[in-house]
Amino acid sequence: MITYLDAEANPQRNTGSIRLYDEAAFEGMRRACQLTARCLDALADIVRPGLPTQAIDDFVFRFALDNGALPATLNYRGYMKSVCTSINHVVCHGIPNEKPLKEGDVVNIDVTLIVDGYYGDSSRMYPVGRIKRAAERLCEITYRSLQLAIEEVRPGAHLGDIGAAIQDYAEGERCSVVRDFCGHGVGRLFHDAPNVLHYGRRGEGAELRPGMIFTIEPMINLGRPHVKVLSDGWTAVTRDRSLTAQYEHTVGVTQTGCEVFTYSPAGLDTPGIALDPVNV
Ligand code: MF3
Ligand code: CO
Ligand code: CO
Repeated sequence: MITYLDAEANPQRNTGSIRLYDEAAFEGMRRACQLTARCLDALADIVRPGLPTQAIDDFVFRFALDNGALPATLNYRGYMKSVCTSINHVVCHGIPNEKPLKEGDVVNIDVTLIVDGYYGDSSRMYPVGRIKRAAERLCEITYRSLQLAIEEVRPGAHLGDIGAAIQDYAEGERCSVVRDFCGHGVGRLFHDAPNVLHYGRRGEGAELRPGMIFTIEPMINLGRPHVKVLSDGWTAVTRDRSLTAQYEHTVGVTQTGCEVFTYSPAGLDTPGIALDPVNV
């Protein structure tokens, strides 16, 4: 049995250069990321009005251990939960607690599971009961921005193409892109080089090469882009308290394009949110 300490005693370091993973590592990432996706799938049946976010944390912890995995956030840099639950104006890193979800809330659930030393990192938005049209629209725009970014991923493209695709689309919909948090290299480390910005200019930033693995996890606001972190040291909220949404996939660069490791095996990538089929 692997213990949390074993996973922590990872000899690898974030050296600043972008790691290239081989086919065996891609296979390891498929397993970790598909377990994460199955966990997020199962949560679609659990989220409902009255449920405390702590119950989501309990579920993810149990799901991980029952499947031979570990929740990567548990004891990560002082974070003491197995998942992040970010409600309404909470941008990211919301800490599960005993307060019940209420009808009309929209909660991002961000799960990272470690399987055989590989990290699968993904998040989705979950509507709690019936939600307002503005909230649904923000979720649609945010997932679409992630889809457009994924379409940019291929050898020879640049990180800036990813950021530009998200920024151009989201701002064109009169939304704003959070700049204080970004996607990241992932694989045998949780947070590795490169930083994957969700804004930028085409042609700028590192060139993508086969074997790179990273997350894309845009946070899009209905209001202004600015965030602040609450006194708990984690919870990031929009400064203007406007609604915010986030989806996250882990992707690998292949010889010809990109492999999305965290797609839902059940087609539940946007649970409860109907996406216009145009770009799906
Ligand atoms: N899963 C988050 C990400 O997408 C990181 C959460 S770190 C925590 O990178 F400590 F806040 F849990
Ligand atoms: Co991430
Ligand atoms: Co995440």
